[in-house]
Amino acid sequence: MILVTGGAGFIGANFVLDWLAHSGEPVVNLDKLTYAGNLHNLASLQGDARHVFVQGDIADRALVERLLAEHRPRAIVNFAAESHVDRSIHGPEDFIQTNVVGTFRLLEAARHYWQALDATEKGAFRFLHVSTDEVYGTLAPDAPAFTEEHQIEPNSPYSASKAASDHLVRAWHHTYGLPVLTTNCSNNYGPLHFPEKLIPLMIVNALAGKSLPVYGDGMQIRDWLYVKDHCSAIRRVLEAGRLGETYNIGGWNEKPNIEIVHTVCALLDELRPRADGQSYKAQITYVKDRPGHDRRYAIDARKIERELAWRPAETFETGIRKTVQWYLDHPAWVAQVQSGAYRDWVAKQYEGAAV
Ligand code: NAD
Ligand code: DAU
Repeated sequence: MILVTGGAGFIGANFVLDWLAHSGEPVVNLDKLTYAGNLHNLASLQGDARHVFVQGDIADRALVERLLAEHRPRAIVNFAAESHVDRSIHGPEDFIQTNVVGTFRLLEAARHYWQALDATEKGAFRFLHVSTDEVYGTLAPDAPAFTEEHQIEPNSPYSASKAASDHLVRAWHHTYGLPVLTTNCSNNYGPLHFPEKLIPLMIVNALAGKSLPVYGDGMQIRDWLYVKDHCSAIRRVLEAGRLGETYNIGGWNEKPNIEIVHTVCALLDELRPRADGQSYKAQITYVKDRPGHDRRYAIDARKIERELAWRPAETFETGIRKTVQWYLDHPAWVAQVQSGAYRDWVAKQYEGAAV
């Protein structure tokens, strides 16, 4: 079996569902259930003996050690993190606690467990750390995309905390020999994405008749990957990645934010037209920019293609259509995640912007 951390969040839940759809191998899912963790994401696994959910913190070393001793996983896949850049600007402390201290404690528990395994189990064990392209910093408009050799130049409290965790993972391999793999992925989108992030926020606000808040001039570029492609890449790296290596994962889909928002509006115009016949684009509002906002990310995903023969299956056009349709088909999920705490966050982040 494998231990997944953060498996009630956006990517982690997609990964657990995807994993169990592709293999019979059980999953122990350790998640703290912060505001971003949501057991409704895993509702379809109720009664499925292959999924064991444990509410808890990766920084709780005694708990992690107990889970490792009890379930004896052959791998740990670490998704658990504070993940939202804007929240890291308002309150960086939780990011240091989970992304840095939490990863450190998880590594220590993994190291002690791994060191006590017999030779065969030891050789087969993997610690896969899920990280982000944001650790590389920002790119000039004409600069080549990030390769795995790019300098680490994080610019936000979030990306700095993820970079710190990547360094710890690297050091635990170099110093102790822990068999680690690290993946650095670009922006994901798809089902179960919490509506604090750009794409789901635009969909739910558009449908609610609220404004669509675009930061600054809307010309920041991100490289978008459908979440199920990220899951298949992680499965592939876990299966065949070279120990101690990092693999960049991306969708070859660089797009300015305003183009993403226009695409979401055009799909909604087609699939759920506004009653007044106007386009959802009428709801776009330019708001104050994110402090320290990275201008461009782009992933060079040639290493994972060359070494592991992985390429994304979805184009942006197919993936975004599926995503918009998923939100239209799941109004109960959307209503359930828009709790009081969610509304407080929106009021704080978009203050005065009528969002
Ligand atoms: P998310 O915020 O949706 O989910 C994070 C999950 O981790 C939640 O279920 C939360 O409850 C859990 N968690 C938080 N702190 C925890 C702790 N201390 N112990 C146990 N569980 C804890 O995040 P996501 O978008 O699914 O991202 C998952 C991982 O992928 C993160 O490590 C993130 O840095 C990385 N990543 C995300 C993207 C993206 O576009 N979303 C891209 C590249 C990499
Ligand atoms: O690149 C990978 C990263 O992608 C992950 O590591 C992060 O966990 C994930 O949150 C994401 O970070 P971003 O900051 O790129 O994602 P976000 O959806 O917050 O913003 C995407 C772009 O849209 C960014 O340029 C900011 C802009 N934006 C975002 C919001 C929420 C807006 O213009 N308006 C908004 O309301």
